[in-house]
Amino acid sequence: MRIYFAPMEGITGRIFRRAYEESFPGRVDTYFAPFIASGVKKGVAGKDLRELLPEDNEGYTLIPQLLTNSVEDFENTAGVLKSMGYKNINLNLGCPSQTVVSKGRGAGMLADLPRLERFLTGAYDYCEKSGISLSLKTRLGLVEEEEFAPLLKLYNRFPVHELIIHTRLRNDYYKLPCRPEQYAFAYENAEMPLVYNGDILCAADVEKVSSCYPGTKAVMIGRGFLKKPWMLDHDDDQACYARMWTFHDRILELYREEMSGETPVLFKMKELWSYLGETMEQINPESKKQLKVIRKSRSIAEYYAATRIIRNSI
Ligand SMILES: Cc1cc2nc3c(=O)[nH]c(=O)nc-3n(C[C@H](O)[C@H](O)[C@H](O)COP(=O)(O)O)c2cc1C
Repeated sequence: MRIYFAPMEGITGRIFRRAYEESFPGRVDTYFAPFIASGVKKGVAGKDLRELLPEDNEGYTLIPQLLTNSVEDFENTAGVLKSMGYKNINLNLGCPSQTVVSKGRGAGMLADLPRLERFLTGAYDYCEKSGISLSLKTRLGLVEEEEFAPLLKLYNRFPVHELIIHTRLRNDYYKLPCRPEQYAFAYENAEMPLVYNGDILCAADVEKVSSCYPGTKAVMIGRGFLKKPWMLDHDDDQACYARMWTFHDRILELYREEMSGETPVLFKMKELWSYLGETMEQINPESKKQLKVIRKSRSIAEYYAATRIIRNSI
């Protein structure tokens, strides 16, 4: 079973990927980059392309992701990515955010199947001509599970390189429980390779997918890796924690090199702690006080002192 790192906008950019790959080498087969927000008029933002420069993403396999419902925009952006050397790209059919959905993008594309079919026809025509493999990352539907069967039937009509299924509806956002029974339906009926995504939180969860659905090509892991970066390691706890701190120190160092001033660095690190902190509190409930200090910290010195107390207590 292959392991994919899920795209997480604002979190799993090139700095995160580099620090993770250096600290946990080889755990992940493929990283998916957070979506590029392109547009016909505005094109692709320089900062999005900067995240994907091959020289800044060496040492691992990376697949960029598009978030668009316009064939013209898709062609332009996919063309730019191809010229950068990317032959595999992914389309976002799952983003639940209201601003994205109301523009008919992300999970909003699941609302109108004839329109989605027209889009996919144009996109796959372009990919075929250009030698690009296009994978899809989808939710089960917008509001109810009954939406999924017709959606899968539609996907089956295209040369989908891989179908990554986030086993939730748009209205489940990220919090409501996953709906693995729908994955079972896909496993029976999909004609393309499948990837399972949603609430894989430990190695046993990976095993479960692999034993229940042995033909599954990969599992894609998102927040599980943020909460427990060592989740696929089988070493003893202390070795795992040591690796986690190596990762922590490295990502902090890279952000400090890259960003000007402490505030944006602290913003990034606090976001990581909103996931990692959950695990630290489970390991040692006394971390709670220091986690609060981290959340409120206004300087790196203050932040670092709080992380050191947690580090020394586990
Ligand atoms: C903060 C955050 C940002 C995300 N950004 C993206 C994104 O850019 N593209 C995407 O396809 N999914 C995005 N997702 C969804 C994840 O890739 C994944 O599908 C979802 O979190 C479920 O997997 P998990 O339970 O393993 O986290 C995001 C999720 C979170 C929590």
